[in-house]
Amino acid sequence: MQRENMTSSEKPAVVPVTQPVLPPLDEFLPYLEQIWANKWLTNNGPFHQQFERALCDHLGVEHVALFTNGTLALVTALQALRIGGEVITTPYSFVATAHSLLWNGIKPVFVDIDPVTLNLDPARIEAAITPQTTAILPVHCYGHPCDTARIQTIADNYGLKVIYDAAHAFGVRDEGGSVLRHGDLSVLSFHATKVFNTFEGGAIVCPDARTKRHIDHLKNFGFVDEVTVVAAGINGKMSEINAAFGMLQLKGIDAALQRRAAIDARYRAGLAQVAGIDCLPDAGETLPNHAYFPILVRPDYRLDRDTLYARLREHGVHARRYFYPLISDFPMYRGLPSAAADRLPVARQAAAQVICLPIYPDLSDARVDAIVDLIAG
Ligand SMILES: Cc1ncc(COP(=O)(O)O)c(C=O)c1O
Repeated sequence: MQRENMTSSEKPAVVPVTQPVLPPLDEFLPYLEQIWANKWLTNNGPFHQQFERALCDHLGVEHVALFTNGTLALVTALQALRIGGEVITTPYSFVATAHSLLWNGIKPVFVDIDPVTLNLDPARIEAAITPQTTAILPVHCYGHPCDTARIQTIADNYGLKVIYDAAHAFGVRDEGGSVLRHGDLSVLSFHATKVFNTFEGGAIVCPDARTKRHIDHLKNFGFVDEVTVVAAGINGKMSEINAAFGMLQLKGIDAALQRRAAIDARYRAGLAQVAGIDCLPDAGETLPNHAYFPILVRPDYRLDRDTLYARLREHGVHARRYFYPLISDFPMYRGLPSAAADRLPVARQAAAQVICLPIYPDLSDARVDAIVDLIAG
């Protein structure tokens, strides 16, 4: 097995936690030429329309509304369903999940996570429901599906909406098809750090044409025609450049996912015998996307999490502690009753133990092996 030397005294090359997949530049030029020729830069242009259809086909969903980014898509999804009052969500996510609630004047109610999947724990949701609760906002964390069946049962029993933050879950399937079909709406991110990127970008997966039409109005300031504005919508439209790039990116996504799967398998094999390091199991997905490679550094590992994190950095491995700190620890959330430390013990432990290792299609086997060696000591 080829090993790369990452222990020399010279400054090692930096290995980022992720690196975007980019197609050869010359393959993008014909797309740009088309945009230059027709001078339609945004506002539901030809590439925007094509990309929405192509995404539906690729993902196996009926309706997609493209956005500038995932955050504006989340904000708009909540607005589209007229969600207010309180929304139950996870503290173990990227901060945009909860920020989308604040942007809608909604009070987040944090509920602890499942110790195996690190997704919102359905067993704890009911206890957090109050007369003000209107919806549940779970996250398919690291692309591992939530327990969608149990969440839907609770939502049905209490008359709540469900919006999935599926920013990590591009292309993920369970036995019934795309995980994006669950809930009332699902929101994707195509940020540069994601499995599938359009530089910046995002989308809402909608169950029907009517909902998509409404969302299309909301992402265009609330305009339904030249003289009618029906809501205080935002400018959330994806530009033609991003949509054209998305069309090109779709060509490479299958190969990218295959390479991610191989890296995931190599890490798992290499780390299997390392005492105190746990890899996250799948969560029922039939088609995973290997968006992240989180490990949990347990107390029986020879170093604590932050010492391992620092040691990896010394060797140029820029792993990340996703998701530390918890969202509920940020200043705009920590005063909420549901943010109290003793109410979120599982999330707190995960945030204290997690490290996401580098994973991206251009990461070589040799680098993966060198990272495993560093961890194995
Ligand atoms: C879980 C989660 N939700 C929302 C977002 C926000 O997406 P964007 O960066 O496209 O606005 C991200 C990532 O950036 C994320 O990881």
